[in-house]
Amino acid sequence: MRKLIAILEVLVLMLFMITGCMDQDPQDDDLIVIGMSQTGAESDWRAANTESMRAVFTEENGYRLIFDDARQQQENQITAIRRFIQEQVDYIVVMPISEYGWEAVLEEAYDAGIPVIIVDRMVDLTNERLMTAHLGADFYAEGECAVSWMEQEFSSNRNLNIVHIQGTLGSSAQIGRTEALLDAVMSNPRWNIINTMDGDFTQAKTYEVMHEYLASCTVLPAIDVVYCENDNEAFGAIRALGEFGYDIGVGGTEVISFDATRQALLYCREGKISLCVECNPLLGPLVESCIIALENGEVVDQYQYVEEGCFVTNDITQELLDSRSY
Ligand code: AHR
Repeated sequence: MRKLIAILEVLVLMLFMITGCMDQDPQDDDLIVIGMSQTGAESDWRAANTESMRAVFTEENGYRLIFDDARQQQENQITAIRRFIQEQVDYIVVMPISEYGWEAVLEEAYDAGIPVIIVDRMVDLTNERLMTAHLGADFYAEGECAVSWMEQEFSSNRNLNIVHIQGTLGSSAQIGRTEALLDAVMSNPRWNIINTMDGDFTQAKTYEVMHEYLASCTVLPAIDVVYCENDNEAFGAIRALGEFGYDIGVGGTEVISFDATRQALLYCREGKISLCVECNPLLGPLVESCIIALENGEVVDQYQYVEEGCFVTNDITQELLDSRSY
């Protein structure tokens, strides 16, 4: 008899589990499933970007987000995209680490009928139909903003020694910001890039390469401008320059930075960063509006750029700082 009761208990339990699962399925079916491949967590900008996505793509808002952190490896992004295709997600969202090497995997997503939204950096495709939309920044325009500030700040008849710290090589943010600087150097004969280093968009690497460079100089070079391709690089560069006794700010070594995170704006207010070029990481709402439009059967603009500004010391008001969530 006891055995029979035990068997009955197991059967009832199994029935509960089955009906429980059945209850869950229709609920899940209502959610829009997003497979998202994030580059990594290299910078404060990136952390804010991830946070913006997570805040929007919640179950309460009607989404199931499958988030993958690629830890700075493109292979990890490709593997994640293949998994999203197998899982038949509704949309694939990718923040690509590099511009190159996406054609094959995006073709697979296209063949599976899954729209792909590229966010932040761009991908270089011969077949543009593989990408439903690109939502992000115009990195060349950001660089132009920096070089036009340099043209105003420094008289054209003085020599300018520039140290250039690049971001992750092959990423659109690096390519656009670098191209703008190189184009300006071509048209300003007195501008000299005295060293170019790869800071990989991180504070630690930039501190290391800048420190190594200065330590290797028998005589410390006069540096007028350090063109850092993001804020974290600027923080690392400023630390290294400080350790070698450089006078940072107007009249000394002027630091240019991209992103305009709160910490960089604070540095700008103190005069440690002369120019902050904005790059907006809060792209979650824009991605959501694109997905909503696609859900409604609308045609979306394939290229959508966000508006961004440039800030110098006098622009840094308390109101601006208070409004910066990242
Ligand atoms: O692609 C955007 C860039 O990548 C941001 O400037 C930088 O901080 C990030 O790591």
